[in-house]
Amino acid sequence: MKKDHQAAALTLDEKIRLLTGRDFWTTHPIDRLGIPAIRLSDGPHGVRKAAGLEETGIGTSVPATCFPTAATLACSWDEALLRRVGQAIGRECRHQGVHVLLGPGLNLKRHPLGGRNFEYYSEDPLLSGKLAAAFIRGVQGEGVAACVKHLAVNNQETDRMRVDARVEPRPLHELYLRNFEIAIREGRPLTVMTAYNRLNGRYCSEDPWLLREVLRRRWGFRGIVLSDWGAVNDRAVALLAGLNLEMPGNGGVSEAVLRQALEEGRICEADIDELVDELLEVVLRLHEAAGEPAHAADCDAHHELAIEAAAAGMVLLKNEGEVLPLAEASHLAVIGAFAQKPRFQGGGSSQVVPTRLSSLWEALSARWPADRRSFAEGYPDDGTIDETRINEAQRKARAADVAVLCVGLPDSYESEGFDRTHLNLPPGHVALIRAVAAVQPRTVVVLTAGAPVAMPWRDAVPAIVLAGLPGQGGGEALARILSGQVSPSGKLAETWPRRLEDTPAWLDWPGAKGVAPYGEGLFVGYRWYDTRRIEPLWPFGHGLSYTAFEYLGLEVGKPSFAADEPLELRVRIRNAGTRPGTEVVQVYAHAETDVWRMPEQELAAFAKIELMPGETRTLVLTLDRHVFHRWDRRRSDRVAVGGTWELRVGSSSRDIRLHTRIEVKTPPLAPVLDRFASVREWMQLPFGKKRLEPLVETLAREMAGPEAPPEGVEFMRTVLYDLPLHKLVGFTHGRFSHAMLEEMLARAGVEGGTSA
Ligand code: BGC
Repeated sequence: MKKDHQAAALTLDEKIRLLTGRDFWTTHPIDRLGIPAIRLSDGPHGVRKAAGLEETGIGTSVPATCFPTAATLACSWDEALLRRVGQAIGRECRHQGVHVLLGPGLNLKRHPLGGRNFEYYSEDPLLSGKLAAAFIRGVQGEGVAACVKHLAVNNQETDRMRVDARVEPRPLHELYLRNFEIAIREGRPLTVMTAYNRLNGRYCSEDPWLLREVLRRRWGFRGIVLSDWGAVNDRAVALLAGLNLEMPGNGGVSEAVLRQALEEGRICEADIDELVDELLEVVLRLHEAAGEPAHAADCDAHHELAIEAAAAGMVLLKNEGEVLPLAEASHLAVIGAFAQKPRFQGGGSSQVVPTRLSSLWEALSARWPADRRSFAEGYPDDGTIDETRINEAQRKARAADVAVLCVGLPDSYESEGFDRTHLNLPPGHVALIRAVAAVQPRTVVVLTAGAPVAMPWRDAVPAIVLAGLPGQGGGEALARILSGQVSPSGKLAETWPRRLEDTPAWLDWPGAKGVAPYGEGLFVGYRWYDTRRIEPLWPFGHGLSYTAFEYLGLEVGKPSFAADEPLELRVRIRNAGTRPGTEVVQVYAHAETDVWRMPEQELAAFAKIELMPGETRTLVLTLDRHVFHRWDRRRSDRVAVGGTWELRVGSSSRDIRLHTRIEVKTPPLAPVLDRFASVREWMQLPFGKKRLEPLVETLAREMAGPEAPPEGVEFMRTVLYDLPLHKLVGFTHGRFSHAMLEEMLARAGVEGGTSA
């Protein structure tokens, strides 16, 4: 069947059928026209293909490589790596006959307790968007569609099917939609999944502003929009909003709803045709791609990539006295059940059945002779305090040179479906850390968690490695890091708070009575901590290395430039240590404006550089022009913020090594003119000045009274200049008439003359 006039060949029933899934995972085929079904699968950090089409298949899916979860991948800050991971997953999709991978997930991490934070990248939209775009390019390069999810503002699990996220326009556009915009413009995904929740009063699956105005018109999206599983409340409303595909299938329930809506005239056939055309274009394109020869899905190579990605995403939080890397001759006490039975991903729809699984104990055993290592479980599966196990762990730790202590969040603490209620590790893990640290000063804590945890024990141990949720290669990756085979280079993609009360959304989280107010506005993550001068537990961008990097110099392409041009930065860096290492260089922008309310600093660019000991190189970073743009509510658009900006270059958001100032030149902005614009704003136009100045002058004198001193007249002038234009009609008792008002609006080209 030809691609360009698909809907025309279908009967109405066939078209309606196509708009809802056939079962849990596929679309309807139309056999008589040779239109095939497509198969969708979770996502995001590996293929989770359910064995049957009518089952969710969590825990029983076809084995696939389990890469690190998004939270851990993001700590690599490595677009090239994300692309390779996407590519490997794309190949496995092809191998398993999957056409759409339900990922990446890239909602911002608004709050550390968010149950699905491990499935998302970062609290920063630039980092999230860039990594997602790279991942999408990797997946789609293999002829498989990526599905960007969950559009939009899906930041909590509490009441996730109904909650109304209330977000002001500026944070919405600068943060919560910005990550999606970058991913969609730069990654060009073929599909997008709508979120369960409401956004400013409307369900995301049923919001024409979100799906048509923002996604398609503004961002130029040209694929299909599908619902999250069960996210549609009214199929007819969703259809009018532009939702192509409702998932999963529901045995014809939605078909009946659409037929009735047609009969009642709430929708018409042309609405259906438009969505069917868009849907079929993607379906046919994916089938064409599926017919092309595919790359082999090489299990061994993908396992190796999973190890590489896990190592790149691990973050060395602390390393006092260079406890790490472990000296070859040391006797190790490996403590904690996670060392043998690793937790490597989060719970819920993203849970992949791995092709194999590497544990830290096994990986260390391949490196350390049996007489120089011992193991103790430390805690039972449920993480409760178990004195017998703790005593055994203490004994082994005391007898060793170093204790490697594996603790973290168990499955029951962190999953899709619920938010956490606190930041604590299980009590048995905390008791174990304290007990082992008391007898072994060289204790390395290895932390498995997809989100921040509290660390009341931070000062009791010299070294902490965040293993994250590292996927099936986690054990081997950790062994490479601990042994020094790989120098850590991961950096935190979110801020770790000292306590919940310090978090930006503390007062509003998770909302009440169906509403989640986003009262912190623009101040999400480090934007909050840096502006409020709150000391975090670990700052955004933090992560140590086994070597040391010196930031030698910073040059900017042009110290003064127009806001619409990209800007080049050159940073000279030296590896001043004795080991090869990789540094993530971060650029933050700080605006010196008092016109706009701004966070203290915002991530403007980042790049990775690998250096041999003693090597010096210059890294070139390009700042996108959007760095200097902010959302203007009255214009409903981004505008450039001119003036002086400081660019800060460093190794974390709190470890700035170099800075420079630049001047951003912007063309003068025409005022936004409508009946509510002030007299002062209208007077910026020559005809406005001519008409209004004499009027204001007369009125100010009249209203001040004949005996008024000059400051009395001046006061009235100020009041009148600040008046919304339409109020002059009343203030002048009609001397400035409604007709004159309308004429001014028409002359300024204000549409309909009525905007507020
Ligand atoms: C999740 C999606 C997932 C879908 C299919 C939903 O519950 O929110 O992320 O892709 O299920 O499993």
